[in-house]
Amino acid sequence: MRTHYCADVNETNIGETVTVSGWVSSRRDHGGLIFIDLRDKDQVVQIVCDPADNAEAHKLAEGVRDQFVLIVTGKVRARGEGLENPKLKTGKIEIVADKLIIENKSLPMPFELNDEKVNEEIKLKYRYLELRTQKSYDIFKLRSKATIAARNALDELDFLEVETPIITKSTPEGARDYLVPSRLHGGEFYALPQSPQLFKQLLMVGGFDRYFQIAKCFRDEDLRADRQPEFTQIDVEMSFCDQEDVIDVAEKLINNIFTKCGFDIPTKFNRISYSDAMELYGSDKPDMRYDLKMVDVIDIFERCSNEIFSNIAKEPKKNRIKALRVPKGDEIFSKREMKRFEDYVRKFGASGLGYFQMKEDGLKGPLTKFFTEDDIQTIIERCELEVGDAVFFGAGNRKLVWDYMGRFRIHLAEIMDIIPKDTFEFLWVMDFPMFEEEDGKIKAMHHAFTMPQTDENGKIVYDDIEELKSIAYDIVLNGTELGGGSIRIHKEELQKEVFKLMGISDEEAKEKFGFLLDAFKFGAPPHGGFALGLDRLIMLMTGASSIREVIAFPKTQKAQCILTQAPSPVEAEQLNELSLRVRKQEKA
Ligand code: AMO
Repeated sequence: MRTHYCADVNETNIGETVTVSGWVSSRRDHGGLIFIDLRDKDQVVQIVCDPADNAEAHKLAEGVRDQFVLIVTGKVRARGEGLENPKLKTGKIEIVADKLIIENKSLPMPFELNDEKVNEEIKLKYRYLELRTQKSYDIFKLRSKATIAARNALDELDFLEVETPIITKSTPEGARDYLVPSRLHGGEFYALPQSPQLFKQLLMVGGFDRYFQIAKCFRDEDLRADRQPEFTQIDVEMSFCDQEDVIDVAEKLINNIFTKCGFDIPTKFNRISYSDAMELYGSDKPDMRYDLKMVDVIDIFERCSNEIFSNIAKEPKKNRIKALRVPKGDEIFSKREMKRFEDYVRKFGASGLGYFQMKEDGLKGPLTKFFTEDDIQTIIERCELEVGDAVFFGAGNRKLVWDYMGRFRIHLAEIMDIIPKDTFEFLWVMDFPMFEEEDGKIKAMHHAFTMPQTDENGKIVYDDIEELKSIAYDIVLNGTELGGGSIRIHKEELQKEVFKLMGISDEEAKEKFGFLLDAFKFGAPPHGGFALGLDRLIMLMTGASSIREVIAFPKTQKAQCILTQAPSPVEAEQLNELSLRVRKQEKA
């Protein structure tokens, strides 16, 4: 139904007869002449309907409205002097309609297609209309390019693409499972995979050596701008490898994707340990596009005459007192704004936020009276303060201080507008702790199959279980966790020991992961891998403000698909077949 895509009609076609087809993106009636911008998948071309050239086409064009589907045949001609549109690829030419077919009509648009401010619910209800915009097409074109680049890069590196099951048994990645009731086994359930983790490990036991998959994953968790209940990973696993081998593959893969998508990035990425990331930036995914580092001042505060601070400082293992220097902060922020920062950190559990101002005549601020002259000098030196700077302090439990000071760092960077756009700062965060304590329970920080760091005899040694490190790494891009992975445990004994430390009994381990533990009895090779969040990668590459923009049919923040009205009730008969009964829902 076309001889050319709109984008491909140019000056070289002047004088030729072409056929283009697509949607009317705008129509202008200039008395005698009617101009139509016709758009196909990704470009617009101008159609002119002149009654003098073809009265029939012109008559039809009078009834054409936005988003009607047209097939137009006509001669290409140069646009008149001064009428060229340099913004368009096709801006030097136009097509004089000789034959115009209205292939389909359209209702008026329920929203202005290119208006960024339109309510998201409306856009998601008519998602197919939003997909018709240039912006959407460009995003999905890039997503396709990136996915193909990933496949090709991994193929080149000898990885085998293998599909793993979607209706399966629970894979623990820390979220709730989506469950699928079984008809044939009433009262029993499959779970949708939170990731292909266990299957990819089994593929290593199966001897495949190098596996990858562009894998759909499902997690029932609270949604945010970078989280969806259903998302895609570029999932990778390899055998007989150490951490360096895995990182090398990940860097090659990421490089290939970015290069093929037209971005220039370094071949090797910087690294930081988890513990340095927390101490310096208060986050395990620090944004390295700007500086703003935290400095430890707990020893200085231990000597101060304010008991609240000196008491906190007496327990340096459990607590932290951190200073965050803001260059020119005293000049930029009023006292009122500084107070407002205190309100900001309180939202995240801080009991307060101290500050000093570096004036011409020395360090000022409500807290200075608690310090000796010498210690004031030490603060100035350690924080490298210059006249005009401000320095903020957070004190308390270390996890709390890391968290709110880390958030405060990002908040400051945003309001000071110091985050460079259009740069990609990759960072490996290494040596994650093996476990973390949550509500009095020991949980695996990455997942329970991650290799702990052991001594030369392969034994786990630790004083404080939260200090035990693992061979796990995350790749962070511009302050977003893009992916993560680890070297896995491949010996049954060690796996059992880790389960035990997490309070998982032998019976529970057998019931949940017996198949994996059994497989380890049959010669599991050393192995490890990683997974990149494909949606997040595209979100960062395109600068999209939400992950929803880069998923063709995303869910809302409440995990609903407004377009199809999912989730929705089902017929009683279907429930019967599945041996299910729905309890009456109480209105929230
Ligand atoms: P992890 O749970 O860190 O690791 O997930 C890997 C990457 O997947 C992306 N991701 C998400 N993207 C969108 N929405 C979500 N709800 C979501 N959850 C995770 C992130 C994340 O970094 N099996 C391990 C990998 C491994 O060890 O090999 C795993 O799934 O970008």
